[in-house]
Amino acid sequence: MAVLEKLSSAEAIALEDKHGAHNYHPLPVVLSRGEGVYVWDVEGKKYYDFLSAYSAVNQGHCHPRIVGAMMQQAQTLTLTSRAFYNDKLGVYEQYITNYFGFDKVLPMNTGAEAVETALKLCRKWAYEKKGINENEAQIIVCENNFHGRTTTIISFSNDENARKNFGPYTAGFIKIAYDDIDALEKAITSSPNIAGFLVEPIQGEAGVYVPAEGYLAKAKELCEKHNVLFIADEVQTGVARTGKLLAVHHENVQPDILILGKALSGGAYPVSAVLANDSIMNVIKPGQHGSTFGGNPVAAAVAIEALEVVKDEQLAENSECLGKIFRQELANYIATSSIATLVRGKGLLNAVVINDAEESDTAWNICMKLAENGLLAKPTHGNIIRFAPPLVMNEEQLRDCISIIISTLKQFEK
Ligand SMILES: Cc1ncc(COP(=O)(O)O)c(C=O)c1O
Repeated sequence: MAVLEKLSSAEAIALEDKHGAHNYHPLPVVLSRGEGVYVWDVEGKKYYDFLSAYSAVNQGHCHPRIVGAMMQQAQTLTLTSRAFYNDKLGVYEQYITNYFGFDKVLPMNTGAEAVETALKLCRKWAYEKKGINENEAQIIVCENNFHGRTTTIISFSNDENARKNFGPYTAGFIKIAYDDIDALEKAITSSPNIAGFLVEPIQGEAGVYVPAEGYLAKAKELCEKHNVLFIADEVQTGVARTGKLLAVHHENVQPDILILGKALSGGAYPVSAVLANDSIMNVIKPGQHGSTFGGNPVAAAVAIEALEVVKDEQLAENSECLGKIFRQELANYIATSSIATLVRGKGLLNAVVINDAEESDTAWNICMKLAENGLLAKPTHGNIIRFAPPLVMNEEQLRDCISIIISTLKQFEK
């Protein structure tokens, strides 16, 4: 068999099964092309993409402006490492810091790397600026968090599947209930060694849990009062996904440290970033952190274009508007449904809760049926389905999708 010969779905799945590590459990759909809100499988079947690569493809598949910027830069200069300057990085750094309102950015590649970067930055700030004794800094995190897959990050996960047999774990984290301001106050005041509070403004992987209104603003206020850094992980919620440029903007919060990834490149390239002001970022000196690919010229060119598209195509506004329609229509159906119990979310990051046990396979079976009906979504748990289409969707397409989702759910009514 020639390498890169056209494969059937069954052949492609068999190859992955035999030669790839089994660290994912994908739906049995083999995609070979994407454009805007659509993807096609190798047999030519067309689907609406309602996952958007976990919110990386906010700008739609293969956005011509983003692909154009990537191709142009790829033909000019791809990688210099940070051993030398390149003519794109500074321009990007100026652009992204103005865009999000920070003094400085530290460019990385994946979301997990950016979270690791933020944790290191927070600890260093704690020792050098806050005056915490070396090795005693504590960072507060939330139960049911998802921040990535590195050893340190899974150390403070409470997903046993993600943690078990990967120890010993990294110390220095205090876990509290999410969306519980009293728990945060208790933890912050429990010790003088609290350096930061790491939080997802909406818990995406946990099942799109939206905290009570005011939680993020109060949390920021508490952090400010006690000289603790408010670290927002907006890897999934950022870049217009929830109807604002950042999910923290719903409560007019400016984090001390902002973590971005995924849609920072529109899904075209791995680009992540940590943003902070000088008083925090300047604790990092040469040799203390880095990545061969971080801040490469292709990433810089792609990220600028991806952020320009978000602005020019008013994706935050579109997400806000379509999200309201989605939740309203689903809520109308759910009012008389026996299979779905709840729709929740913000903008175009939403979840539908299925009327079955968390360990059931009902959500999976519904997603299989949705795929058959031309729409791709994925459960976050046995009874929760996340719905997160590209933000370039229009109202007519959304209404078509809503009717696919409702008619599919109806097939599972008891
Ligand atoms: C909130 C959040 N943080 C971090 C990550 C990790 O990003 P990556 O998979 O690019 O390492 C994710 C991925 O889903 C995420 O949702």
